[in-house]
Amino acid sequence: MTKDPGFVSVVIPAAGKGARMESSINKQFECIKGIPVLARTIMVFAEIPEVDEIIVVCAESDFAKIQALLSDLGLRKGTKTVTGGSTRQESVFNGIKSCSAKSDILIVHDGARPFVTREIILRAIRGAREFGACCAGVPVKDTIKTCDESGFILKTLKRETLMSVQTPQAFKYRIIKEAYEKAYDDEYFGTDDISLVERLGIKCKIVAGSYDNIKITTKEDLILADLIAGNYT
Ligand code: CTP
Ligand code: MG
Repeated sequence: MTKDPGFVSVVIPAAGKGARMESSINKQFECIKGIPVLARTIMVFAEIPEVDEIIVVCAESDFAKIQALLSDLGLRKGTKTVTGGSTRQESVFNGIKSCSAKSDILIVHDGARPFVTREIILRAIRGAREFGACCAGVPVKDTIKTCDESGFILKTLKRETLMSVQTPQAFKYRIIKEAYEKAYDDEYFGTDDISLVERLGIKCKIVAGSYDNIKITTKEDLILADLIAGNYT
């Protein structure tokens, strides 16, 4: 990175229940080649000098476990834990509100996405600095259609225009803070962070993510994760 990005904060939402994994342990503590999902995610950010602080958002019930995980990692970088909420949006908002007053760039990245790379994160930081708001994404591989409630096709969308978006999503701090505050006031719930910025009428950019940057969601993802981990360990 050529230019100093300013103070970079990362919010890692990790306060979910992992219900779709249907496992007795929360998916973020599942091990991929011996290393818990959440530990893998945090380590990628911890090893990037451009990142100044990491805020891990946790459920009360996982607090002790996450503290133990962080102390096992022995991180030198400023790392904070804050309490999450009942939705991802609430959890991320709590994280945003706990950032350092020095924060210039804020990155949001799912705790359950352990295969993010330094390259993707640096692209996201650059995108945030240049455009104000950006997210990682990849072109969709399938043809995507819209349908009605009975499953009948309404329309076939033009694949060349469709992107599957991921985290990291990175922003100028004042932009994401305003977007979250406005969504809160309007009681608007989006399915990702950048959509809260889109609704402010701000142009948002997609930067290259990776097909490996999967979100661990269901059991099959753990099988895939084991294969992907072969390339990263
Ligand atoms: N998350 C959060 N707070 C919530 C819900 C989700 O911090 N109230 C976090 C999760 O821990 C995860 C990320 O947001 O790292 C993405 O959410 P998702 O994949 O949906 O995880 P869960 O909500 O835990 O899984 P599920 O929806 O299957 O219960
Ligand atoms: Mg969820």
